[in-house]
Amino acid sequence: MHILSLAAVAALAHHAAAQFNMLRFACSQLVVERTDPLVNPGMLYSPHLHQIVGGNSFNVSMPPETHDQAALSTCTSCSFAEDFSNYWTAVMFFRHRNGSVIRVPQVGNGGPQGQLINKGGLDVYYIPSGKVTAFKKGFRMLAGSATNTDNSKVNKGNICHRCWQSTNDNQFTGGAPCTGADTVDIPYGNQCKMVRQTIIFPTCWDGKNLDSPDHQSHVAYSGAGASGGGRCPATHPVKLPQIMYELMWNTSTFMDQSMWPNDGKNPFVYSTNLGNRGSAAHGDYLFGWKDDTLQKAMDNNCNLDRDCPRAGIHKQQPAVYNACTKEQQAPEPVDGYLKSIPMGEMAAERA
Ligand SMILES: *[C@@H]1O[C@H](CO)[C@@H](O)[C@H](O)[C@H]1NC(C)=O
Ligand SMILES: *[C@@H]1O[C@H](CO)[C@@H](O)[C@H](O)[C@H]1NC(C)=O
Ligand SMILES: *[C@@H]1O[C@H](CO)[C@@H](O)[C@H](O)[C@H]1NC(C)=O
Repeated sequence: MHILSLAAVAALAHHAAAQFNMLRFACSQLVVERTDPLVNPGMLYSPHLHQIVGGNSFNVSMPPETHDQAALSTCTSCSFAEDFSNYWTAVMFFRHRNGSVIRVPQVGNGGPQGQLINKGGLDVYYIPSGKVTAFKKGFRMLAGSATNTDNSKVNKGNICHRCWQSTNDNQFTGGAPCTGADTVDIPYGNQCKMVRQTIIFPTCWDGKNLDSPDHQSHVAYSGAGASGGGRCPATHPVKLPQIMYELMWNTSTFMDQSMWPNDGKNPFVYSTNLGNRGSAAHGDYLFGWKDDTLQKAMDNNCNLDRDCPRAGIHKQQPAVYNACTKEQQAPEPVDGYLKSIPMGEMAAERA
């Protein structure tokens, strides 16, 4: 095993099986807007604000039968040129004492494998464990629930937050994602210079349905944590690559407590609702890799964000994928201080 894969394994410490390579790459923000072709197809404006990355064929409605992301996209905001999937999450807001809100900036993620560079956006992992079956064209799923207000309903082993005490993330700190002191809530306080959000998706598929009414019941978790997943249940026998989203929220801009709200509550919230904090963390996935490149990447032990000729996948330079963006299809201000978090019928006004 070479050094990089040892480092990868160190990042996922505490796993007995130190066998695998995995994809780990950056995706820049394609657009920040209120659309959701998975949960609210066709709806403008969707109930809450998302940040979306991936292929630029992203649209308000993306019917799996007709919308072929690899064929319709002309660029992708993700590192691999063959990945036209779309990945999205809620965005985080800071509540200023004066009642205005502002989006918390996002930054790339570092670690001993090298800094992932992206403009906003998130980092994506595809973690295989043994032989896995890549997603089929049209496959989509949802992890977490935007309407959940109950922390105890979240499995902290799969959806969690970590307080980073330094803005220098050249070393991974702590153990594997969603272990140790990681929390369901968004951590805050003087010591939290950055917040890392982790969303781990289910790894077992029923082998039949590309989607399901709740976008969840066609897949199942086989455990918790970033190990690639364990043995699949008989109802969902097909082992998938494990998808993990990693987001770095740079909260260090908001350390001055004289800016914090007087209500004594967490100044950081997700875009879902002021009452929904870490419990509302969720991630949406619409598979869109070209042809069978993802299957080949998994079968050929492709690693991190590097070129992998065995699978025919190519790394793009950050300047190339950072340049892949889209106009808002649900236009409204999302940058700078706003009077309120964009939701409901009306577009938000600037503060
Ligand atoms: C979105 O889909 C509509 C309807 O199919 C199409 O007319 C439009 O061009 C698409 N927009 C973008 C930006 O791809
Ligand atoms: C995070 O925000 C701080 C304060 O605004 C800034 O100085 C720093 O450069 C940011 N860090 C990154 C990695 O962008
Ligand atoms: C709140 O403070 C921010 C930062 O100084 C400012 O941009 C914004 O306009 C203020 N909002 C109100 C309602 O005063």
